[in-house]
Amino acid sequence: MTIGALTVFISYMGKFFSPVKDLAKMTSSIAQVTVALERIQAILEDHSTVTEKPNAIDPGSLKGNIVFENVFFSYHPDTPLIKNFNLDVRCGQRIGICGQTGCGKSTIVSLLVRFYNPDSGRILIDGTDISNFTLDGLRKQFGFVMQETMLFYGSIRENIAYGNPNASDDEIKEAARLAHAIEFIEKMPHGFDTLVGERGVTLSGGQLQRIGIARAIVRKSPILILDEPTSSLDSESEKEVMEALENLMDGRTIITIAHRLNTIRKADKIYVLSDGGIAEVGCHDELISKGGIYHELFRSQEWAMPSSTSVDK
Ligand SMILES: Nc1ncnc2c1ncn2[C@@H]1O[C@H](COP(=O)(O)OP(=O)(O)O)[C@@H](O)[C@H]1O
Ligand SMILES: [Mg+2]
Repeated sequence: MTIGALTVFISYMGKFFSPVKDLAKMTSSIAQVTVALERIQAILEDHSTVTEKPNAIDPGSLKGNIVFENVFFSYHPDTPLIKNFNLDVRCGQRIGICGQTGCGKSTIVSLLVRFYNPDSGRILIDGTDISNFTLDGLRKQFGFVMQETMLFYGSIRENIAYGNPNASDDEIKEAARLAHAIEFIEKMPHGFDTLVGERGVTLSGGQLQRIGIARAIVRKSPILILDEPTSSLDSESEKEVMEALENLMDGRTIITIAHRLNTIRKADKIYVLSDGGIAEVGCHDELISKGGIYHELFRSQEWAMPSSTSVDK
C-alpha cells in the first residue's frame, strides 16, 4: 500500500467512526425519552376516582354558602381521617381552620373541590350537593393561595393572568396593587414584562406569595381558599402578606387554613380540628377565654415566635 492510500484510508476511517458513535449515543437517548414518554402517558391515562354525573349542571356563579354535613373520609379504609365533620359557612364570612399538622386540614379542601368524594355525608354549596355540579363549574368557584406559589417561566404579567386568562392589563395591574406586589414589580428591570420562573428572575418567598394573591384577585371567584399562605415566610414577610390578604377579604367567602394562629386571628369563626372532628369553634377571643386546645396552641406559639412581636414594635 502506498503512503498516500494509507493516509486516505485512515482519514476515511475517522470520518466513518464518528457517525457510528453518534448512532450508538442516539439509542441511549431514545431509550431515555421512551421511559419519560411512558411515565407521561401513565399520568395522562389515569382515570380520576371522581366522576361527573351524566346530568351534572354548571352552577354558573355561586354565592358561596358552604355546608359540610356529617362528612366522613379516609385515604385508607383502616385509618379513618375525617370523622363526622360539620361546617356551616355563610357567604362573605371569613373562616379559619387550625389544628396540628397531619390532622386533615388540607384534606377538607380536597373534598370541597372534589379531588376526592366523602365516604359518607354531604357537602353543599348554596344548598346544592356539589356532586351535582360539573367539575369545571365547581372548581371555577374557587381561588387558591397555597403554601408556596409556583411560577411558570414567563413574564410577571402572564404569571398573574394565570388566575384568569381573560384578565385585561388594567385588571392585572389593579390586582398587583391590591396584593402589594406592584411596588417590587415596578422596580424590576422590565416591570410587568420581567421574565420569572425557571431561568428568569428569582423572587423571595414573600414576593412569590404576593404574586399568588394577585393571581387569586384576578380570578374573581366567590370562594377563596388560603392553605397555610404564610407558613413558609419569616415574620417580616408574613406581615406584608397579611396586609395584602386583607385586600382580598371583600365580601367573598374565605376559608383560611393555618398552623400559625396569627394568620387566622381576625376570622369571624375559627374551627379547631382535632382527631378528625371539630374540637372547638368560636372567634379568637372566645376561644382564648375558653382555655382549651386553641388557647394552649396560641400560648405555645407566642413563646415559640418572639421575633413576631419584636417586628410589631
Ligand atoms: N393523597 C393522600 N393519600 C394518602 N394519604 C394522604 C394523602 N394526602 C394526605 N394524606 C395523609 O392524610 C393525613 C392528613 O393530611 P393533610 O390533610 O394534608 O393534613 P394537614 O393539612 O392538616 O397537615 C396525613 O396523615 C397525610 O399523610
Ligand atoms: Mg396542609
